[in-house]
Amino acid sequence: MPSLVSIEQLDRVAVERLLRRAQSFLDYQLEGKENVGKESVGVKGTAVNLFFEPSTRTALSFQLAAQRLGLKVLDFVVENSSATKGESLIDSLQTIDALGVDLAVIRHPENWPKLLDGEKFDLSLVNAGSGIHEHPTQALLDALTIRQHHGGFSDLKVAIVGDIYHSRVARSNALLLRRLGAEVSFSGPEAFRKGDVAEHRWIDFEEAVVESDVVMMLRIQHERHQHIFDTTNYNQHFGLNMSRLQQMKKNAIILHPGPVNRGVELTDDVMRDPRCKLLQQVTNGVAVRMAVLEWCLQGGSNEQLVSA
Ligand code: CP
Repeated sequence: MPSLVSIEQLDRVAVERLLRRAQSFLDYQLEGKENVGKESVGVKGTAVNLFFEPSTRTALSFQLAAQRLGLKVLDFVVENSSATKGESLIDSLQTIDALGVDLAVIRHPENWPKLLDGEKFDLSLVNAGSGIHEHPTQALLDALTIRQHHGGFSDLKVAIVGDIYHSRVARSNALLLRRLGAEVSFSGPEAFRKGDVAEHRWIDFEEAVVESDVVMMLRIQHERHQHIFDTTNYNQHFGLNMSRLQQMKKNAIILHPGPVNRGVELTDDVMRDPRCKLLQQVTNGVAVRMAVLEWCLQGGSNEQLVSA
């Protein structure tokens, strides 16, 4: 069955189709039509969420997306599973596959698609976060949020700011938004400008604030750091506050994948500002994940989505 493990799989046409489909789910809901998925798409099957890292937004929105499509959703709690007895991800997935489950949504601290290299499964696999590497559905929901506001991506300046090195959100968004025609820059502390991300285009934070149409702030991911990262003056140097907000373009928007370290990446008053689209991102997440689950379970009519 088709899987979505990386933004690399998606060409521009496939992305546009997914975004249009997600938008149609949102429009349908706005019209007050309940059970949109169940009535309109005719996908059926059983899904399971395997989250080996904590999550609020992604886990709940995948669950809701599956329910809205009319899928059965199995409960899998890692702490109560045989993973605690040392079962490998491959063995867990083979077991789930043998049970006849149709689709597994996976979040894992490792680059899990690489762990599965060469393994064959009948079920679809959807990446809900693979270590620091990829978070494709986050990038898709961010793209949808940008498109809703700016109408497209051509010539749009997007600055991704903060803990870039540890961010799967930065990597997936850079891949996707460049593919869609946006000019993507990274910005933030030198400590996070290393490895693969150092090769990208970097700009000063001042320029990022003043010049960008989209300022995507990233969470400082303390749990991935080997050394303590002091955030005492972070907001002053690399965060958004009301005085920085004044310097932004009038039509610019602020994104953040969440959860926010309040007062660090964003101050409370910035989070209340209408240009801050965090909750719209969350709402879009359900629709985007409905579109992705539907694609997988319909057999991936676009070849680009098929190769896991
Ligand atoms: N954006 C994101 O992945 O948030 P969660 O960790 O809450 O799922």
